[in-house]
Amino acid sequence: MTPRPTIIDCDPGTDDAIALWLALASPELDVRLVTVAGGNVGLDRTTANARAIVALAGRAIPVVAGAERSLMAPFRAETAVHGDDGLGGVRLPEGPPLAPGIAADAIRALLRSAPARSVTVVGLGPVTNLALAFATEPALVDRVAEIALMSGAWSEGNITPAAEFNAWNDPEALAMLLGLGCRRSMATLDLTAQALVTPQVIEDLARHQGGACWQATLAILRALPPSRRMGHRGFPLHDPCTIAWLLAPKLFGARDAHAEVDCGPGPGRGRTVIDRWDRLRRPPNLMLQETLDSTGFFTLLAERIARLP
Ligand code: RIB
Ligand code: CA
Repeated sequence: MTPRPTIIDCDPGTDDAIALWLALASPELDVRLVTVAGGNVGLDRTTANARAIVALAGRAIPVVAGAERSLMAPFRAETAVHGDDGLGGVRLPEGPPLAPGIAADAIRALLRSAPARSVTVVGLGPVTNLALAFATEPALVDRVAEIALMSGAWSEGNITPAAEFNAWNDPEALAMLLGLGCRRSMATLDLTAQALVTPQVIEDLARHQGGACWQATLAILRALPPSRRMGHRGFPLHDPCTIAWLLAPKLFGARDAHAEVDCGPGPGRGRTVIDRWDRLRRPPNLMLQETLDSTGFFTLLAERIARLP
């Protein structure tokens, strides 16, 4: 098996942290670059967290800072889920400094040096950095094997009634990515609701022995509040679903679908309109993940992250 060269654009973020560790623990992925957006808690925190997460895994992958804010709106902090520090109060040892440069430049440089259709691009936050990279050098889309996103919802949102956080934070950037001519996949809120972390799931996961990354994973899971949207039964572990799709697609049920994002100014801003039943007769623009084998997912998560230092 040849590992897939991979770029991860993220905004850590409790679930981003766990997604990064899952990716870094997995031989199927060759993570070559981590780029960071401001996301929920702002670039100072998300870059410090990304540096610490990568270092705790014992890896020396460049971490490059990108956009604090979205293309069309100022930065808006949203600390309810991840806490003020973005990691639910779980302290990690400081990582090495950021790599120099700006995320969009680093993404383009890596793609430029890659063969056609070879690089997997993962988006775990608002996709501003990715949109800037492709808007400024669109020909590089031919280097992309797949863009794998955690974004959107076909039912209700989690930041507004209509919109999921990543899509709502930068809908213009998401619209740009949805229009690129390459393979795409998407884990929406409807999928990640099936990766529900309940007290029982945490108890089961805690039976696995592991190093510092696994201990930090368990600490993060214990720190997160149950979600009102999930009836307080637990909380959805969003971003690791996108990585799990790349590692074990057999855990998922998926279908081709056409998706658009509402970029209007009203209450629907950021809403993803996903045509699961081909009512609009538009060509599919992504592989939509619909169902998840949650037992298989949590087993994969534990077995992989427990291998890390
Ligand atoms: O809506 C879920 C997304 O926003 C995830 O990427 C998570 O990190 C959150 O902030
Ligand atoms: Ca995220």
